[in-house]
Amino acid sequence: MQIRVVPDQPWSVAADVLAVPVFAGDLAGADGEALAELDRRLGGAIGEYRRLGEVSSELFRRVMLHGQDLGAPWLLAVGAGDAAAFDRRTAYRFAAAIERRLAGLHVSRLAVWLPSSVVTSGATTTGAAAEAPMSAADLVMLVARGVTEGSYDPATIYRESYDEAPAALDELVIVVRGADVAALQAAAERGAVIGEGARVARDLANRASNDVNPEVLADAATDLAKAHGLAIDVIGPERATEMGMGLFMAVGRGSDNPPRLIVLRNGGDGEHDARGRLLALVGKGVTFDSGGISIKPSDRMEEMKMDKTGACTVIAAIVTAKRLAPDLPLLALAPAVENMPGPHSTRPGDIVKALNGKVVEVQNTDAEGRLILGDALTYAERLGATHLIDAATLTGAVERAFGKQVTGAFGTPQGWYDTVVAAGARQGERYWQIPLVDDYVRDMESWYADFQNSGPADGSLVKSGLFLREFVTRPWVHLDIAGTAYMRRPMPWAPRGATGVSHATMVELALEGANPA
Ligand code: BES
Ligand code: MN
Ligand code: ZN
Repeated sequence: MQIRVVPDQPWSVAADVLAVPVFAGDLAGADGEALAELDRRLGGAIGEYRRLGEVSSELFRRVMLHGQDLGAPWLLAVGAGDAAAFDRRTAYRFAAAIERRLAGLHVSRLAVWLPSSVVTSGATTTGAAAEAPMSAADLVMLVARGVTEGSYDPATIYRESYDEAPAALDELVIVVRGADVAALQAAAERGAVIGEGARVARDLANRASNDVNPEVLADAATDLAKAHGLAIDVIGPERATEMGMGLFMAVGRGSDNPPRLIVLRNGGDGEHDARGRLLALVGKGVTFDSGGISIKPSDRMEEMKMDKTGACTVIAAIVTAKRLAPDLPLLALAPAVENMPGPHSTRPGDIVKALNGKVVEVQNTDAEGRLILGDALTYAERLGATHLIDAATLTGAVERAFGKQVTGAFGTPQGWYDTVVAAGARQGERYWQIPLVDDYVRDMESWYADFQNSGPADGSLVKSGLFLREFVTRPWVHLDIAGTAYMRRPMPWAPRGATGVSHATMVELALEGANPA
């Protein structure tokens, strides 16, 4: 898909469809005049449809109108809410919702008009004082990212043809008044690359567990590494055992599909980025989580193919970062295992020793993510990581607490947590902090080991973070994406399935390291 940013008037742009945001109330100044001119060129249809209520500012309500006297034969009116509330998150979703509305239609050139009112709205994703208002470049980046991701649909992974497949665009024209078209063009291209990376993550995550096992995930990572010039090391069971990764090795024992610790790297030994960091992205890669001997109920167990999403996200994120900043030193670690019951499975009560020497009682084999992440975090530090971020579908509790729209996050020290959340906000991704309350540590005490991997259910979300904290000594943030990693039903801006959540946060965070503070 070619992207062009043009400073033209929306009615003069040649395209198959021109998408136009519909805001509550009237647009002011030049925007108001431009909208009135569009309406005139449609013989007053926009106004009539609005009075009828067919076209409205309701978020992502989409109505196709005949374009009549426009450069595009069709005008897509897209509800965009209150202009003053149009933040980065809404910008991304607005763009993805436009592209998704074109599914099944014969459209190859899409134009999106961004009136200046949205650029100057000042709305922020977090509401935090530290979050800078969205600039024209931010907006254009998010729209390009949104359109790129909006054309992703998992319905075609396992079948040849699908009627409702998203439109494959040849060209996206972003129509925006901006002083510096060249800078906006660069921002748009950056957004498209981030969107393409999210598609890689989503596609891997959506694939079935009989298709993607740890070995297949490692092969996919190897292909990506070769294609993009990243170094890769795939650690199999013999080496992992020899190194002492007892937590990692405890989980995959019940499966015929052996574990793989996937390690991707850009930059040489001892290299740091422009901020003196070597960031490690760590992702949980449980290719299927049956619970093991502590087996899960059968209801919704099929969703546990998604338990590899964190791994898919970090594999895609290091590739995206490499494309955008080829010389940036960066690490990605994806411990991949299948958690199954079987004669060789780890049992509740088994005692295992972590790579960092700590002794753990496996009280519940379904709390497996924290086991594989514990060793992966230790190993990331051994490889020289100075800063860590992990993404994991770690607990059902996080979805019960925050639902499918907010990712729960932990971190220490607070300054690093704030840095990560600010990077996420720049990409329209939203996190809420869960406290690492020391008082609960004693709930995880074990008679035989240094601690156990679960404990009483009260405060179990906090305890999942406390467990991981035992395996880090450097600035670290943990994102629990169990609620936000996949949708059970389609949204205007996303199909059912993997969402790619936190891919953009990780890329944005890593890219900070391309420039000195
Ligand atoms: N993969 C699950 C968490 C999960 C649940 C992800 C639902 C997505 C949707 C994780 O391995 C798990 O089983 N966690 C347990 C932890 C408990 C045993 C302490 C849970 O949340 O019940
Ligand atoms: Mn589990
Ligand atoms: Zn799991």
